[in-house]
This record gives sequence, structure tokens and C-alpha cells, in this order.
Amino acid sequence: MATNEAKLINNLFRDIKRVVKNNKINSLHEPYLGNNEKKILNECIKKNEVSSVGRYRQKFEKLISEYTGVKYAVTTSSGTAALHLALKAIGVRNNHEIIVPSLNFVASVNAILYCNAIPHFVDINPNNLGIDPKALEIYLKNIALIKNNKCINKKTNKIIFAVVPVYVFGNSYDIEKLKRVCKKFKLKIIEDSAEALGTFYKKKHAGTFGEAGCLSFNGNKIITTGGGGAVLTNSKKIYEFVKRNIFNGKLKHDYELIYEPNSLNFRMPDINAAIGCAQIKNLNYFLSLKRNLAKRYSKFFKKNNEIFFLKENLFTKSNYWLNTILIRNINLKIRKKIFLKAKKLNIPLRPIWTPLHKNNKLKKFPKSNLKNTNSVFKKIINLPSSAILGK
Ligand SMILES: Cc1ncc(COP(=O)(O)O)c(C=O)c1O
Repeated sequence: MATNEAKLINNLFRDIKRVVKNNKINSLHEPYLGNNEKKILNECIKKNEVSSVGRYRQKFEKLISEYTGVKYAVTTSSGTAALHLALKAIGVRNNHEIIVPSLNFVASVNAILYCNAIPHFVDINPNNLGIDPKALEIYLKNIALIKNNKCINKKTNKIIFAVVPVYVFGNSYDIEKLKRVCKKFKLKIIEDSAEALGTFYKKKHAGTFGEAGCLSFNGNKIITTGGGGAVLTNSKKIYEFVKRNIFNGKLKHDYELIYEPNSLNFRMPDINAAIGCAQIKNLNYFLSLKRNLAKRYSKFFKKNNEIFFLKENLFTKSNYWLNTILIRNINLKIRKKIFLKAKKLNIPLRPIWTPLHKNNKLKKFPKSNLKNTNSVFKKIINLPSSAILGK
């Protein structure tokens, strides 16, 4: 192994070990559960409130809306279900084109495909890994025109209906700028803020800028309900649609049971919501531990010219869900060596998702120039990031 390469790899693992101190790393982002969760679960069982009957779902929704500052929060069975429902709620339908970053988890694209719509891939800003609004504007100017108040793709003749930006690893992008571009091109926004509970842009919570935002409470997220998600919105219409459609389209009636067809069961069970109630009480504590951990990583990597630690941008507050480094001169060989060594040392590292436009089944969909996506994805490594490690 060339000496520089060996030095880079050895120093990387040395620094990770120094940062996490004596804390045991069990996974990339393990849940932080304690006595409150045990107590609340016992209560659920004692009262037989584990499924659709119970108080905790409503309580958890209130706590989420208070924390994020939105009028309405509706819990769902997963973040993916939240995305699917939010897209349906704003009227996404057959052949609508929906803009998403290619450097992205597949959930929003799956939700788009389940609406029979078409994902349309765009590039990111390497400084925050979110959609680059400026590049998007230039791209839309080239490929789209506004006709009858709708954004039409000149090549495909289809309506470009919405954008689903993502807060990657809890980092915020310039959402205000993106909103301006979307307004100009008549596009709706559903924010994939699955990874961004506790992330703010100019003191406003992630997922509260567009028509709706979606959270995930999967086991690896900053707070967990075991599995679950939520739709955030200030729109009564979206709220009512989502509320009805998490429950097989059940219509309001004093006693009759009437359901609107074409809807599924996306409810969060009460037992999961109960864990959420206990977890969200510790959210600020988790955020402070995660900030400590990020500060320590940042300090160590400051001395390293080869490694760039991704920090929150101006005007934004990251939840530092997953700490992220970019290795400047990495190639696929070094990358492989790093991940194999991590396995050997039992240090959980993670690459970012392979860009979606490279996926065999997604290659056919429209895309912009993806130069940043193509160059950045190989450089990214996620470091162990559990709140517990920030102690
Ligand atoms: C960016 C992003 N979007 C959507 C999701 C989907 O959330 P869930 O796993 O709760 O369905 C996740 C979770 O892994 C995610 O990271």
C-alpha cells in the first residue's frame, strides 16, 4: 500500500477512536432508550392501549407539532408512507414529473412511482448535499415552459408538478432560494425531512417550508418509535386527506362505517407512538450530545488536509444526524480498503447511497447534468454518530 494511502487510512481510524473515547460503538446510529420508554410501554400494556385504541398517537402528534411549529402533524407507519401520502395529498398523479435529487434514499422515488408519476433527477450542492436551487433554475429555464399556470417539460410534454428536496443526513440546504425557484416555475414542494428532526433553517424547522414535510422515526433516526413517520403541514386540506388515508379512507360519521376506496392502512400503532412520546422529551438532550460529537470530529479532522468534515452552513442548524466526511483524493480502490478495514476493526462506517440515476431500473428517467452527484458520492463516508457517543 502506498505510504500516503496507508497513512490516510490509519489516521482516519485513529481519529474515530479518539473521538468516540471509551464509548462502545454498536452501530452507525443506535437508538438511545431508557427508563421512560420502559415505563410508558408498561403503561400501554397495563391499559391495553397498544394498537388503534389509545391516547399516545394523539399526544405524540401534538408534541411533534409543538416542536416543529406546524399546525398539524399526522403520524404514519413509516417515513416512506408519509412521503406517499403527502404526494397523494397534493394531487400527484399519472405521468406527473417530480423533481428529486439523484443523491438520495430510494423512499421518495418509490413513493413517486407508487403514484404512477415519474422521478426526474437533479444535481446537488456539494457543500450541503441538498438540491442546488441555482442549478435547478438554470436547468428548468432550459427544459421547461409555463403554460396555463403549469410547468411543462418541453421534451416530454408532461407536467413537472413538484419537487421533493431532501435534508441529507440532517443538513439543511438553501430552502428559501429553492422556494423562490419553485414559485417561479409553479412547482409544489414536499420536503423529505426524514433525517432532519431537530434541523433548522433560519430558526424554522425542516419540513415546514413546503406544502408538507415528512419525518421518519425508524430505529436509526434521532428519535425512534421502532418504526414510523409523520406528515407535517400547515394546510387543513392536506391534514384531512392524510388523516383519512392512514385509515383505509374512513369517512367521518357518528356511527356508520363508510370508507373511501383506494386507500391503505398507514396508521402508527399506539404502542409505537408511546415510545415516541418518551423519546421526544429527550430530543434536545440527544441534539446536544450529537453536537458535542460533531464538534469533536470536526476538531480532529481540521488537522487533516485530505479529509473535509461536513459542517452546517450559514443560517442553518444541523441535527448532525450522521456525521459525514468527504475524502478529497479518494479513488475506488482506497474507498474499498477503508470499508474493508472498518469491517475488520468492527467500526461501522457507511457510504452514501449509490446515485439513483445509476440504478438499472431508474436509468431511463429524465435527468439534469449530475456532475456534483457523480463526483461527490464516491468521496462520502458516514461516521459512527449515535448520541450516546457524544457523552
Ligand atoms: C432521506 C430518507 N427518506 C425517507 C426515508 C424513509 O423512512 P422510513 O424508513 O421510516 O420509511 C428515510 C429513512 O430511512 C430516509 O433516510
